[in-house]
Amino acid sequence: MVYLDPPFFSQKIQCMKDSNGIEYRFSDIWETRGEYIEYIRIRIEEIKRVLKETGSVFLHCDDSASHYLRMILDDEFGENNFRSEIIWVYKRWSNAKKGLLPGHQTIFFYSKTSNFKFNTIYKEYSPTTNIDQILQERVRNSEGKASYKYDKKGNVVIAKEKKGVPMSDVWEIPFLNPKAKERTGYPTQKPIELLEKIIQISTDEGNLVLDPFCGSGTTLVAAKMLNRDFIGVDKNPSAIELCNRRLAEPTKTVSRLLQVGVDAYRTKTDEELAILNMLGCDVVQRNKGIDGFLKKFYLGAPVAVKIQKSYESFSEAINLLNNAGKKKKCSFTVMIRTSEGLVDSEIPIPSNMIVIDGLDLQLNASLLKASNNYNKRLMRG
Ligand SMILES: C[S@@+](CC[C@H](N)C(=O)[O-])C[C@H]1O[C@@H](n2cnc3c(N)ncnc32)[C@H](O)[C@@H]1O
Repeated sequence: MVYLDPPFFSQKIQCMKDSNGIEYRFSDIWETRGEYIEYIRIRIEEIKRVLKETGSVFLHCDDSASHYLRMILDDEFGENNFRSEIIWVYKRWSNAKKGLLPGHQTIFFYSKTSNFKFNTIYKEYSPTTNIDQILQERVRNSEGKASYKYDKKGNVVIAKEKKGVPMSDVWEIPFLNPKAKERTGYPTQKPIELLEKIIQISTDEGNLVLDPFCGSGTTLVAAKMLNRDFIGVDKNPSAIELCNRRLAEPTKTVSRLLQVGVDAYRTKTDEELAILNMLGCDVVQRNKGIDGFLKKFYLGAPVAVKIQKSYESFSEAINLLNNAGKKKKCSFTVMIRTSEGLVDSEIPIPSNMIVIDGLDLQLNASLLKASNNYNKRLMRG
């Protein structure tokens, strides 16, 4: 198998420093698009030459030139040997560019022949899958429509054991965060998790993996961890040194997001979300002091909002919000008070903090006042 992650035709020098200040760089600047296309074409020809008959190639690119690269692959490997366009999706922070935020890269998967090695990976059923979809045998009618199978007596037919859902061509794998142990400081470094999937579907233990643009050596580390043989090539000598260091001590960061799923990051209750939505806040998860920020800035700075939790005294909540608001240089902070019972000794409320009672507290207070007035009127006769 060959995986290649060449320069993408970004027309930039790709440059980055690692935590020790060592700088890594490679050029992705081209005189013309034709020059770039020719450079890739020559390498694709050679890749085809060295591939086994059962082997496959995975070409990693982005929208800078993916449409041209796919045509080169069609020319060299044949349209019939196109297998998949893998979309690697990840979350990005917003940028200043006008238009849609880029959130994916593309990996073209071609095989050398139709007799290619492929290992299916099975995933869990989606939460929307119902029990019948999992258990019942399905048949196709004459128009090709799928329906559940019934026996002559009209009873449902239980299908054979199913392994799950075959992995799709859209892979959600987080970008390496700046603090990830796996991160080397090499520009455009890809996650081991991504390379592991490619290696697992296309090779078995002992097979040979080639990466002719190996950079920091992600493919080689993934291949080593999965007991495959590997060859890496890079024209940058500092990349080769880095590869050797990584191979001596392979380290993989296990993404918490992949382990626990995105829902584990949601810490707000429905009530809290309703309050924050009502105020038009951007919701902040996993922060003790701040639950959201108003979309509008005041005095040129953010305004942080906190909802007092049922287990927090009023003074605790005030301190948490006040400290967090100072750290984030907020002009004002807003505290939503949710419980009367836990108001402890009088504490000074910071001058830039606005305290609002939650709707239920306001309603209780209004009803109490109205009842008192009613009782007074009754007493007066
Ligand atoms: C996008 S990076 C690869 C990053 C790698 N996948 C990783 O995870 O670290 C592209 C690499 O191609 C190398 N390169 C560029 N032109 C090359 C050439 N003609 N021969 C070999 N390597 C080349 C660059 O030095 C750079 O390391």
